[in-house]
Amino acid sequence: MVIKKARLTIDDKTLELDILSGSLGPGVIDINSLFKSGYFTYDLGFNSTAACESKITFIDGDKGVLLYRGYPIEQLASQSNFLEVCYLLLNGELPTPKQYQDFCKEIAHHTMVHEQISNFYNGFRRDAHPMAIMVGVVGALSAFYHDTLDINNPEHRAISALRLIGKMPTIAAMCYKYSIGQPFMPPQNHLSYADNFLHMMYATPCEKFAINPVLVRAIDRIFILHADHEQNASTSTVRLAGSTGANPFACISAGIGALWGPAHGGANEAVLNMLQEIGDIKHINKYIARAKDPNDTFRLMGFGHRVYKNYDPRAKVMRETCHEVLDAIGLHDAPIFKLAMELERIALQDDYFIEKKLYPNVDFYSGITLSAIGIPTNMFTVIFALARTVGWVAQWNEMISNPYRLGRPRQLYTGYKERDYKDIQKRND
Ligand code: ACO
Repeated sequence: MVIKKARLTIDDKTLELDILSGSLGPGVIDINSLFKSGYFTYDLGFNSTAACESKITFIDGDKGVLLYRGYPIEQLASQSNFLEVCYLLLNGELPTPKQYQDFCKEIAHHTMVHEQISNFYNGFRRDAHPMAIMVGVVGALSAFYHDTLDINNPEHRAISALRLIGKMPTIAAMCYKYSIGQPFMPPQNHLSYADNFLHMMYATPCEKFAINPVLVRAIDRIFILHADHEQNASTSTVRLAGSTGANPFACISAGIGALWGPAHGGANEAVLNMLQEIGDIKHINKYIARAKDPNDTFRLMGFGHRVYKNYDPRAKVMRETCHEVLDAIGLHDAPIFKLAMELERIALQDDYFIEKKLYPNVDFYSGITLSAIGIPTNMFTVIFALARTVGWVAQWNEMISNPYRLGRPRQLYTGYKERDYKDIQKRND
């Protein structure tokens, strides 16, 4: 809806631009027609640019609000479960009991991977980073489902969504099993989504396996909290790849690649690496000083966020879960967790972090929680990718179901002007 007009005057010409209003959030100046004036806009890191319209997730970074389809994340994390949240993100509404039951059954129906998929793992070194394996295996799924790759067919898109959500825990757990040389464990469809994942991670064929329900609940919460986060770097990557008409498995694989970086999904792994590097409570002040030094590239991993300039609402919930897990397994006094809590305390009182609004983010607490559960650090981002798959798929599907255009950003070119090619013999060393 157009709420008012903005006027942009360049030389003696004035352009009238619509200011659109969404249901929540700031007004958005529609610059779609601007390129006709001979000008582009310059927006490093897309700080001020809305590249799409979406009804899925809303964030108010200043107030610390996160809504999935209008529902506050705190309510979903405490009252719902991951598969219900998946249904909500994909379909826009919470399911009825029958819809929920059918959805769980459909997801369970897609948990196994084709036997040939197992062969892909053998092609990787045992010490390969599991994210490297995941990018490859998820992209390779497109080679298995030729029958449902028509992106313009809503039924094909729906089946691809179920396949991706159903298979991600299996693929992720296989990455881990491969790295430690244990046999792959098949999915157990009578277990909940989170329980099944932990079963495939930790069970072996030689003994019975049961896990503390507090840990299952923590994993389910991590999945809920990471399920979607509107147009972040990996989701925008999925949309951009999707706008070319690429198949969903290729698009999700692109998203996994984007998530891998330490400024995004790799942050929880980076948190644990940082804690190990700090090593002892007595070194914290030295590292805080390094984080504040403008000439030092070191940053406190797990602190700060591009959008939240207030406490990340997911971090609040995750902090609670983190303490529940540490209590349940009696690890509160383990040196690395004591170090993490002391770092949190000191950073929250430090003027530099207060002034720059650098609060601990969800990755700070999810990293500590996953580590306490016994998940190896290189699996942290894999778990994030598993959880975010539903968000990527929901965003991709929303884009394809509506009118969209090929994503093609512009640039401010600062290279050479046109010049003539010089024969190699005529160039001086
Ligand atoms: N430690 C120390 N200083 C920091 C940190 C940090 N973690 N984060 C930001 N700052 C400082 C910057 O140096 C900068 O200082 P300046 O104004 O003096 O130049 C200022 O705070 C603003 O930082 P920017 O990088 O401009 O803010 P941006 O919004 O681009 O950064 C980011 C967000 C990338 C997440 C950043 O805070 C960071 O690198 N954090 C650590 C990595 C991390 O935890 N990432 C997880 C993000 S959450 C997620 O993906 C789920």
